[in-house]
Amino acid sequence: MTRLGTETAFEVLVRARALEAQGRSIIHLEIGEPDFDTPKHVVEAAKKALDDGWTHYGPSQGQPELRQAIAAYVNRTRGIQVGPENVCVVPGGKPIIFFPMLALLEPGDEVIYPNPGFPIYESMINFLGAKAVPMPLIESRGFSFDLDMLRDRITDKTKMLVLNSPQNPTGGVIPAEDILAIADMVRERDMLILSDEIYSRIIYTDEPPMSISSLPGMLEKTIILDGFSKTYAMTGWRMGYGVMPTWLVEAVSKLMVNSNSCTASFTQRAGIAALTGPQDDAEAMVAEFRRRRDAFCAGLNSIPGFRCPIPQGAFYAFPNIEGTGRKAKELADALLADAGVAALSGTAFGDYGEGYLRFSYANSLDNLMEAVERIRKHLAS
Ligand SMILES: Cc1ncc(COP(=O)(O)O)c(C=O)c1O
Repeated sequence: MTRLGTETAFEVLVRARALEAQGRSIIHLEIGEPDFDTPKHVVEAAKKALDDGWTHYGPSQGQPELRQAIAAYVNRTRGIQVGPENVCVVPGGKPIIFFPMLALLEPGDEVIYPNPGFPIYESMINFLGAKAVPMPLIESRGFSFDLDMLRDRITDKTKMLVLNSPQNPTGGVIPAEDILAIADMVRERDMLILSDEIYSRIIYTDEPPMSISSLPGMLEKTIILDGFSKTYAMTGWRMGYGVMPTWLVEAVSKLMVNSNSCTASFTQRAGIAALTGPQDDAEAMVAEFRRRRDAFCAGLNSIPGFRCPIPQGAFYAFPNIEGTGRKAKELADALLADAGVAALSGTAFGDYGEGYLRFSYANSLDNLMEAVERIRKHLAS
C-alpha cells in the first residue's frame, strides 16, 4: 500500500471545503470535472431505465447494445474498425488504467508515462512493482514529448507507453506528426500503448486529435481509454470504457467479475442515449469552456511572473509560475490559505510539474476573473 499514490485534487477539495465551513470564500479551481449538468435526455433515459426494471446484474463486459454503440462511436471518431467484442464497459475511465495494468505488468517491466500527468498512471505502475519511466512534457513543444528522449527511453523491457491527449494537467494536444513518429518507434516492438483519450471531445483545434490506434499496425497494440465523465458531464455516474484487442478484453472482463461484477445497468441505458442522442449540450459546453479559456488565460498572462500557454484541449490552464520566484506547492498552498483560490501544484502531477500550477476552468467566468484578481493581489502583497 505504501507504493500506491493518490489524487491530490480530492485532498485539496477537502481542505478547501473545511475553510468554507469556517466562513471563508473559496473559488474552486482544483477539481477536474465539468460544472455543467448531465444533458436532460440522458437523465431521462436513466429514469426510464429504472422504471423499466434495468436494476439487475448485467454482463461483466457491458451490455451488448451499449458496446455496439461505443464501437460505432469510436469507429466514427477515430477512423478505426472495431466491434462490440473489443469493448469493455467499466465504472469510469480509471478502471481502464487499473485493470489493463494489473493484467499486463510484471515486476521489472518498464512503463513510460507523461510527467506531469494524471497521477494514477505513476501510482499504478509503482503499485505493481513495475518501473515508472517518466517522460517530461515540454512547454515549448505545446507540452508534447521530446521525441529523441522518448526514443532513448524505450528499451527491451518497455512493456507499455502511456499517451494522454488532450492532456491533464497541461491542456496540451500531441500533434499528429508526433503521433506518427511515436507509432514508427513502437510498431515493431513487443509493447502496448495505453491511449487515454478521455478529453477527446473537449478540444479547441480545427482537427480532432489523432488517435494512435488509427495508424497502420497500431490497433492491435492499443488500449483506448474513454468514457462519459467529461464529454457528457457525467463524473458521478461512474461510466467509462476501454477499446482493446479481444485477448485483453477477456482479462479485463475477468477482473470485472472479480471486482464490480458489472457496471450499473440503468446507467448503461443512459450511456446509449448519450452516444446516440443529440450532441448539442456537449457542444455548447465546449463552446463555453473556450470562452472561459480565452478570458482566464489572458487574465493569468497579465499577472507578473505568470506565463500561461493557451491550452488546446480539456479544461485546464497550466501556467508557468517560475517568474514569481515561488515553488509550486508553496504558492498553491498560500493561494488557498490567503487568497481563497483552490488550485493544484504542478508537482501533484509528478516531479516535472515543478514551476507550474494547474487551474480547472470549470467554473463561472465571474469566479475565474475574481480568482485572477485575488492571485494578482496576493502576489503583490
Ligand atoms: C487523464 C484522465 N484520465 C482518466 C480520468 C478518469 O476519469 P473517470 O472520472 O471517468 O474515472 C481522468 C479524470 O480526471 C483524467 O483526467
